[in-house]
Amino acid sequence: MSKHPRVAVVGATGAVGRTMLSILEERDFPASEVAALASSRSVGSKLPYKDGELTVQELTEDSFKKMGLELALFSAGGGTSKKFAPVAAEAGCVVVDNSSAWRMDEKIPLVVPEVNPHDLEWHPGIIANPNCSTIQMVVALQPLHLEGKIKRVVVSTYQAVSGAGQKGVNELESQVRQLFNGRDPESKAFPHQIAFNCLPQIDVFTENGYTKEELKMVNETKKIMGDNSIQVTATTVRAPVFYGHSESVNVEFERDVSPEEARTILAQSPGITVVDYPEKGLYPMAIDAAGEDDVFVGRIRRDESVPHGLNLWIVSDNVRKGAALNTIQIAETLLERGLLRVK
Ligand code: A2P
Repeated sequence: MSKHPRVAVVGATGAVGRTMLSILEERDFPASEVAALASSRSVGSKLPYKDGELTVQELTEDSFKKMGLELALFSAGGGTSKKFAPVAAEAGCVVVDNSSAWRMDEKIPLVVPEVNPHDLEWHPGIIANPNCSTIQMVVALQPLHLEGKIKRVVVSTYQAVSGAGQKGVNELESQVRQLFNGRDPESKAFPHQIAFNCLPQIDVFTENGYTKEELKMVNETKKIMGDNSIQVTATTVRAPVFYGHSESVNVEFERDVSPEEARTILAQSPGITVVDYPEKGLYPMAIDAAGEDDVFVGRIRRDESVPHGLNLWIVSDNVRKGAALNTIQIAETLLERGLLRVK
């Protein structure tokens, strides 16, 4: 009988952590034990899991050795990850990390299983899960890149508030209530009112005028697709949507890729559903993608302003494929490839 790893979800009380627990359950992930870890604030609280519940324990430097953990799925912010991921790896526990702490570290693979599963082979005990808006874009771009070689990508995003964690979801909900009750909306999670508004700022601004979120899309895309020659420019926008990021993506290829070819290629690629029936008014929408695993692609048409261009509309559930699901798919791929040591 094969042995199964002892698994911990770190940040289990958060929006992504809770989704990780439900996806582990849905996919019947082969774990001999699942532990829920969070900060001291949450110790003793209960989270539903399978037929029972898990009691949240405090994450400490001893957690990994003491609990004999072999796999830790982190979604507890960059600071927690910087501090605890190396401690876990040192204790022989492989970390799949959702924060941005390790993504651009040359020694750490940044993985989307549909795109670069081979990069898992060189993991040193920590694997980074990419930014949510990048994951859904590269799932759709990679099969087209293999066909026509992408030269340049221009992306504008419409990102859900859940990308900012549970506090983002709570803020949109409470602002809508405050406005309907004639009160001034309070903004804490976002720099301005998000209800009935769009904010062209996600994360902080950098010296060149881009936000950190925009630079993540530029740099992470190149690392995951393993091609530094792809030019990417991004404008990332927070929209008053609870779940599901939408992206308008303009792609320039070296060779011609027709909309018909693109539809056929995408429809045959793993993790993608093509929804492209403009004559019936059907295209991907965040409300349909929420709760689903796939990346949805539609509005596929020629960009007639350049020799070999296509426009795409790409939508996916940012908490699932953009975070929790991709993390668990990385863990499943580690197991399939024998890259996780189980005692
Ligand atoms: P806690 O609920 O105890 O604060 P979200 O992204 O939805 O805001 O969730 C963040 C997650 O990260 C929560 O589970 C939170 O736990 C956890 N977290 C934050 N800081 C720490 C920390 N220092 N140690 C462990 N978990 C942490």
